[in-house]
Amino acid sequence: MTLGTKLVAGNWKMNGLRADGSALARELAEQMVAQGAGFGCELLVCPPATLLSDVGRILAGTGIFLGGQDCHAASKGPYTGEISAEMLVDLGCTHVILGHSERRHGYGETDQVVQDKVMGAWRAGLMSIVCVGETQQQRQAGEAVEVVSTQLVGSIPNGAIPSLLVVAYEPVWAIGTGLTATSEDITAMHTEIRARIPPGARILYGGSVNPKNAAAILGLAEVDGALVGGASLSAEDFRAIAGCVRVNAATLADES
Ligand code: PGA
Repeated sequence: MTLGTKLVAGNWKMNGLRADGSALARELAEQMVAQGAGFGCELLVCPPATLLSDVGRILAGTGIFLGGQDCHAASKGPYTGEISAEMLVDLGCTHVILGHSERRHGYGETDQVVQDKVMGAWRAGLMSIVCVGETQQQRQAGEAVEVVSTQLVGSIPNGAIPSLLVVAYEPVWAIGTGLTATSEDITAMHTEIRARIPPGARILYGGSVNPKNAAAILGLAEVDGALVGGASLSAEDFRAIAGCVRVNAATLADES
């Protein structure tokens, strides 16, 4: 049984010029105000680094958290093009996504690289969202649990700080494809993950989460929230996904 507040996080990836990002952030901010008591969950948006400053300013005071999509392990130095965790904090970030499959597979990020980045994020006080997930080939070969387990062991530093750790289970084959894992597979994998991480750390599901499937996914007891890519670029879809948390909570209350 999962206790605690669910987290619905939006990963905007490399999308949006300043005008688009500001417009989306303003829509999100207005929705939060209209919602009054909030969504019954935590909301986080992770825009491209170029938009963090503008989006942060617009979301200030709304209760929506701001996060980066990556950071470097070091706090500063000769790392052209990189951004440190301290720089993210400086822009108002509280979270950072690390080890996303697009970075593991597209840029060859190893578990050790991810672990070093998690250490950097914790040094700066950022909540790390550590992404793990198997490819379709690995799942078909029956290796999904082994792959995810190896990623967890390699990517999460010893002495992990549960309050600063979120794991996102994102099957690679489900990201941006419209395919989602079955409820049974999500529950099974989250249970495996929970047995391998410190108590208190949250586990999100990610991979083609949208307003149609969110209620079923967020209703699973083992799911502590969602990491949303494509659908987070629409304020309406993001609101609809977040709204599923409250619907589920109400349903649970009715059943008890
Ligand atoms: P998606 O992306 O929702 O577009 O599948 C999820 C992610 O990459 O975090």
